[in-house]
Amino acid sequence: MVAECMGTSLKTLNTLGINAHCQQLIEITDTDQLGLALADLREKQQSFLVLGSGSNLVFSKDMLGTVLHIATKGIEVIEQDSEQVVLSIAAGEIWDELVSYCIKNNYFGLENLSGIPGTVGAAPVQNIGAYGVELEQFLISVQAIEVSTGKLLSFSHDDCEFAYRDSLFKRVGANRYVITDVRLKLFKDASSRRDLQYKGLADEFAKQDLVNPNASTVRRVIKEIRGAKLPDPAVLANAGSFFKNPVVSEQMYLQLLEQYPDIASFPQRDGQVKLAASWMIENAGWKGFRENDAGVFEKHALILVNHGCATGSNIISLAKQIQDSVSDRFAVSLEIEPTVI
Ligand code: EPU
Repeated sequence: MVAECMGTSLKTLNTLGINAHCQQLIEITDTDQLGLALADLREKQQSFLVLGSGSNLVFSKDMLGTVLHIATKGIEVIEQDSEQVVLSIAAGEIWDELVSYCIKNNYFGLENLSGIPGTVGAAPVQNIGAYGVELEQFLISVQAIEVSTGKLLSFSHDDCEFAYRDSLFKRVGANRYVITDVRLKLFKDASSRRDLQYKGLADEFAKQDLVNPNASTVRRVIKEIRGAKLPDPAVLANAGSFFKNPVVSEQMYLQLLEQYPDIASFPQRDGQVKLAASWMIENAGWKGFRENDAGVFEKHALILVNHGCATGSNIISLAKQIQDSVSDRFAVSLEIEPTVI
């Protein structure tokens, strides 16, 4: 058994507010420093974890090693013409500040991804997505240091193997590469990449009598929708959606539909159907549930929250109960979305 770790608390460095500890915490403010820190860790054969805003992870235990907190800054125009611009953005930039910067500078495309917590370097790892748009639609390349050699590598869009809430960096690339910069191609014509079809979004535009809203309005409305149903981690600790929305065959979907005519779902281009995990969790009776300080958010069943002093194991134990209950009721397995450490 590991003795209680006396290292540095990570409570303020993860949005679920888990009071895990690490042995050493290093703030990274430039890429050269990152290279040196990785070389040192490699030489000492020490384990490490790369942390941005800590908004998509669950500490189930203390970290017996070093945490590299990425705080590099910088947004640079790499190339542009009258229609498009390519930006190179440092991994430590805050995602939502980037979205705001782009709209102010008339670089369009990212507005549907407004209000997502986290850093730019973390965004490709889980291919952040919301309101019908995914990061990969704009991503040109990812620059990263290969941990075993210290070399700076460039990964093209295809190299990143993006999928729904997934990429190479979440699977085989985890711990092998540390992302330093992300390159995105955005558009100078606001309408060329506008995507306003997502149901909840289209409904809100209609409600507010908005026809052809501009990028700032899209951002405002999305922030309103998010604010109304997703808890602000600064007020109630959480890590966003705790489960992925499961994708099932059309046949399975039709069977479920027969039994549950109002099941919430999103048809996919390949004929499969994405089911709203939040609907299943709510209908299995979990919305608003609380066990000690671990709970299910009362306004959105996909969000697990820490009411104060929940440990990582409290959260994981609640997640397991939810997975079992959804599996018993709907015969669908839910996969945990954030990275569990
Ligand atoms: N619903 C319920 N109960 C709830 C909440 C939602 O039944 O408590 C139903 C509603 O019918 C709703 C449907 O589920 O129409 C879908 O809900 P919502 O639009 O909130 O989307 P979601 O599928 O729950 C996903 C993303 C979110 C993203 C929203 C909007 C995943 C895992 N989550 O949630 O991403 O903001 O769509 O695009 O794909 C995140 O990843 O952390 C995140 C918040």
